[in-house]
Amino acid sequence: MENLENIKNRAEKELVSAQNSEEIKKVFRKYLGKDGEITRILRSLKDIQEQKRKAVGKSANQIKQELEQKIEIKKKAISAVIEKGKSKKQMDISRPGHKISIGHIHPITKVKKEVEDIFERLGFSVVEGPEVETEWYNFDALNIPANHPARDMWDTFWLRQNESKVQNPKSKINTKSQRLLLRTHTSPVQVRYMEKHNPPLRIIVPGRTFRYEATDASHEINFYQAEGLMVDKEISAANLKAIMEKFFEMFFKQNVGIRLRPSFFPFTEPSFEVDVQCVVCKGKGCSVCSKRGWLEMAGAGMVHPQVFKSAGLNPREWQGFAFGMGLDRLAMMKYKIDDIRLLYKGDLRFLEQF
Ligand code: PHE
Repeated sequence: MENLENIKNRAEKELVSAQNSEEIKKVFRKYLGKDGEITRILRSLKDIQEQKRKAVGKSANQIKQELEQKIEIKKKAISAVIEKGKSKKQMDISRPGHKISIGHIHPITKVKKEVEDIFERLGFSVVEGPEVETEWYNFDALNIPANHPARDMWDTFWLRQNESKVQNPKSKINTKSQRLLLRTHTSPVQVRYMEKHNPPLRIIVPGRTFRYEATDASHEINFYQAEGLMVDKEISAANLKAIMEKFFEMFFKQNVGIRLRPSFFPFTEPSFEVDVQCVVCKGKGCSVCSKRGWLEMAGAGMVHPQVFKSAGLNPREWQGFAFGMGLDRLAMMKYKIDDIRLLYKGDLRFLEQF
């Protein structure tokens, strides 16, 4: 029994000082291997006196079990240390890396950039205006006075303000109204720009616009437009048509037919709708153009004398054309998107297709 206790102490000490798996194996072999000290004792039990046999056997087996357990624990501890060291020091440079997922430009931004690019090549400057606009620039300056029925076409969101600063638009219809709203079109920038810049001028104004309306596949409460304005001494509707034709040809990268249809806007006279021959069916009629063969792409017209007056210019001296086209419409045509709401949902399954 004394001998056993001795063996146990030695084995444990050696195990504690073992530094690696080789040394642990050595301890195992020395005590528990085929010819190990404890194994030998267990094997020689039959030679021991009967009275002692039971106690020695029990004790030897217990020591064997304990030692086995301790060896197992030590093995695990050592391999954990090795693993940790590995992950710190070793790097497999031949392993393929993780691909970093990067976003991309939204289809509307893409179209906006293309539109700017094309018009810049045609000699137009890119100009911007505020999204929160005054009633004056959005309506009155564009020949749409309060109570004019045309205001119904551009129902919008009004901003609440300190009442004392607001003039009553009904009592002073012709003063510049300072009530604030979310602009319903990019046309107010026509007046803002002409107030500060003398013609001749050519500008394109891309930007976000808002309308108060029920949404459906072709209507959203916010969308994007690009306004165009060209003013000089002698500008006619023929210039408008030529510029429009050139633009659509460059945008769709093919020859497209266009037509001007009579229309009405208070800030242009005469006014037109600019239609483009359907780029999908080439005018034959399909589901995209609702069998019409033509798609309405922009409102346009010759700048109304009243608009020149609002900007402080003499309408007898200057002529010009203006147009406003929907960038959403262009994106939808170009990428064959059938619901405008998809553009504003932020759904990656949709956006990742571009
Ligand atoms: N501002 C008009 C709209 O939003 C479009 C337009 C712009 C029409 C310029 C004529 C001239 O519908």
